[in-house]
Amino acid sequence: MTTGSLLVADLVIAVLATAGWLGGGAASAARRRPLALGLTAVALLATLARAITITALARAGWWFAAEKILIAGPLSLAAVGVAGPRLLRAPGDIRAVALPLLFAGYATSSALLVTILHGYPASAGAGLLAVAGVVAATAISARALGARPSRTVSRVALVVAVAALLTGTGLTVAPGAAPAVPHGHGPPAARIADEPTRRFTLTAGTATVDAGGRNVAAWAFNGQVPGPELTATVGDVLEVTLRNRDIERGVTVHWHGYDVPNDQDGVPGVTQAAVRPGQEFVYRFRADQVGTYWYHTHSASDVGVRMGLYGVLVVRPGPATGLDVTVPVHTLAGRQLPAPRVERVEPGVPVRLRLINTDSTTHRYAVAGTPFRVAAIDGVDLRGPTPLVDTAVLIPAGGRYDMVFDAPATPVALFVDGRAVYSTGPVPTATGAWPVLDPLDYGATAPVPWSRTDKTFTLVLDRGLDLRRLLPRYAHTVNGAADPDIPQQVVRLGDVVRFTIVNRSQVVHPWHLHGHHVLVLTRDGKPAAGSPLWLDSFDVRPGEVWEVAFRADNPGMWANHCHNLAHADAGMTLHLMYS
Ligand code: C2O
Ligand code: CU
Repeated sequence: MTTGSLLVADLVIAVLATAGWLGGGAASAARRRPLALGLTAVALLATLARAITITALARAGWWFAAEKILIAGPLSLAAVGVAGPRLLRAPGDIRAVALPLLFAGYATSSALLVTILHGYPASAGAGLLAVAGVVAATAISARALGARPSRTVSRVALVVAVAALLTGTGLTVAPGAAPAVPHGHGPPAARIADEPTRRFTLTAGTATVDAGGRNVAAWAFNGQVPGPELTATVGDVLEVTLRNRDIERGVTVHWHGYDVPNDQDGVPGVTQAAVRPGQEFVYRFRADQVGTYWYHTHSASDVGVRMGLYGVLVVRPGPATGLDVTVPVHTLAGRQLPAPRVERVEPGVPVRLRLINTDSTTHRYAVAGTPFRVAAIDGVDLRGPTPLVDTAVLIPAGGRYDMVFDAPATPVALFVDGRAVYSTGPVPTATGAWPVLDPLDYGATAPVPWSRTDKTFTLVLDRGLDLRRLLPRYAHTVNGAADPDIPQQVVRLGDVVRFTIVNRSQVVHPWHLHGHHVLVLTRDGKPAAGSPLWLDSFDVRPGEVWEVAFRADNPGMWANHCHNLAHADAGMTLHLMYS
């Protein structure tokens, strides 16, 4: 069983246990004896079964089980310890066990709430809040049931509840490490002085564009979605003038995966101010990385990219040879882009398909009709890629794969989620059942280029209630905090930095660090065995643990976030800073 499915199973069992205890309590209060005993039996079994799921989760990693062991464990023991013996004494009047059963229900439900609303790390504050909730709810039920506990008992309960509540609130809401995300600062312009060799202008504005044969309202660069394809040859100096005609939310250009100097990175509030309507900003950087990249606005990035403010950036080593096709996949107003394209290709022509996922969720790509190789991932060439046949790839949000092959005499087609997007003729192939390539096992291995690690950080991805703002929100969190309260990661120039990224939530998080490519070391403890994988976007699926590393060689303040941009906006963004 994968850790992801264990997380789901544990949650389902916890809900069953809670429902069983609460239902049993209610049924016995209503003197419905058989129902009460039935529900209680379910609750007891489920509560005991959690011992199994929690142990298995703890073995997958402490991050997955911390609050379950520290908070749910004791509360479940209390539930069984209080309710169990009373049941065994099998009272003539079943109503007599209503209160212990309800107590058990409150204990398991508050533990469940800790997991759902607070998650990792387990804190004393969360534990105390949970206890306070159980005491308060039990006291209220006692009154309702007319079971008058002695004055002393209720006083003690009251004091315990209030004390726990106060300490809990204090511990939970008190500011942790100082957030201190700078706003609108940046090192003095380090923009290169060399004369530009490639000049582009991108004008952002609202537009009506054609998406799959239907006119839709969009936000576009130069009136088109995607924006113009920017191409360069390695060594070129690019100068891109960004103008904003009428995008009220402001625009910037972020060069996704391109490790530009920090002040060219296009992150509003961090490396520059957002460009407001009527304003402009000039980007200039040297194209010294070859490969497939893309650009997109980073201002209100979730809505901005979704509405169409993105385009392709391709840097070639020299003049293009053969057929070179970019396929930037995007969902615009529910329509799939790009529109399908069919062209004839002479047999023997070398073909490169540059697949780009500009959406916030994973897409499945399949090349049918020919053996092919994955030549590069995230712009970086792979070492010793071997030919693949009838194999699909999953590209994470923001990710790129370059597929290469020599055109055969028979037609070839590229399918995205089962839809033919590019073809050289009709290919009636169902690719849905094809196996999926694991890039960690693909290509020829090479030793890790460093023998030391100077800094390590763990990022535990989860959901949680964020109370530190005017309006509470159910945030996407890193180590229990949401942007802007996630402590910065501070590194020094030259450090070898290691990230352990743990997903204990129920959804995929495509991770993306700006300004650096990271080398994949392990996934779920298994070392990467294929070509060195230098990624800028990778899917951390529920229950997965990734270890990646990079050399801190690009000073500045860098966004480090989930590239499901709705998650990034809902808290899952932090910053890497050079001291
Ligand atoms: Cu492509 Cu900060 O993102
Ligand atoms: Cu995410």
